[in-house]
Amino acid sequence: MGKDVIIACDFASKEACLNFLDKFTDKKPFVKIGMELFYAEGPKIVRELKARGHKIFLDLKLHDIPNTVKKSMAVLSGLDVDMTNLHAAGTISMMEAAIEGLTRPDGTRPLLIAVTQLTSTDQERMENDLLIKEPIDKVVMHYAANAAKAGLDGVVCSPLEAEKVHQTCGKDFITVTPGVRFADGDIGDQKRVMTPSEAKKIGSDYIVVGRPITAAADPVAAYTRCLEEFVD
Ligand code: C5P
Repeated sequence: MGKDVIIACDFASKEACLNFLDKFTDKKPFVKIGMELFYAEGPKIVRELKARGHKIFLDLKLHDIPNTVKKSMAVLSGLDVDMTNLHAAGTISMMEAAIEGLTRPDGTRPLLIAVTQLTSTDQERMENDLLIKEPIDKVVMHYAANAAKAGLDGVVCSPLEAEKVHQTCGKDFITVTPGVRFADGDIGDQKRVMTPSEAKKIGSDYIVVGRPITAAADPVAAYTRCLEEFVD
């Protein structure tokens, strides 16, 4: 599995996003487009960034009835994204329908990964709000195993869970891990963080890095540092 650094382009407008990406004149980074930018600018932002040579992780976290997810995934596949995602809580049949929708007539498809439990959900909220009484680690691994069973390629998870996900679902099952910070950087609102080199050591396949690059004085230097620590 090719390891890479994905920059979370959490911008509110196309102008802010392009202004940032214009700094990268050499290597075009793999970028994540989330709900904020997608809902602000629509599918044309995906086409535009693809045309500029970026690989794209479209982070829209689909969760609906299987038929609706299948049809929506067919639309996203037509946008030629490289990776997209959904909530494993939608069940195995929703995930299988998503794969069907995503698969193009020639048999190719973008990578599909699952969100297990959001990192904003803790044990207490899961028990009280969702009435799930099992330990959260067990729930996360069960959802990851469901995703693997449905034929998905991997999960988004905390770098701290990546090793266990690989043990549970196999080493080829992709782990995409946010919550990455430089050893000498601010952690901001992330609670459990890892450096790019630690994430490499525990076997993350892709790291998703936002503010340590987007808010850096020199974003290209910060990106290069991530690549050196994580990939090289
Ligand atoms: O700026 P920062 O590096 O914290 O950005 C991390 C990115 O990863 C954001 O786009 C955030 O929404 C996303 N993410 C996360 N934790 C998760 C899932 C996604 O931080 N569990």
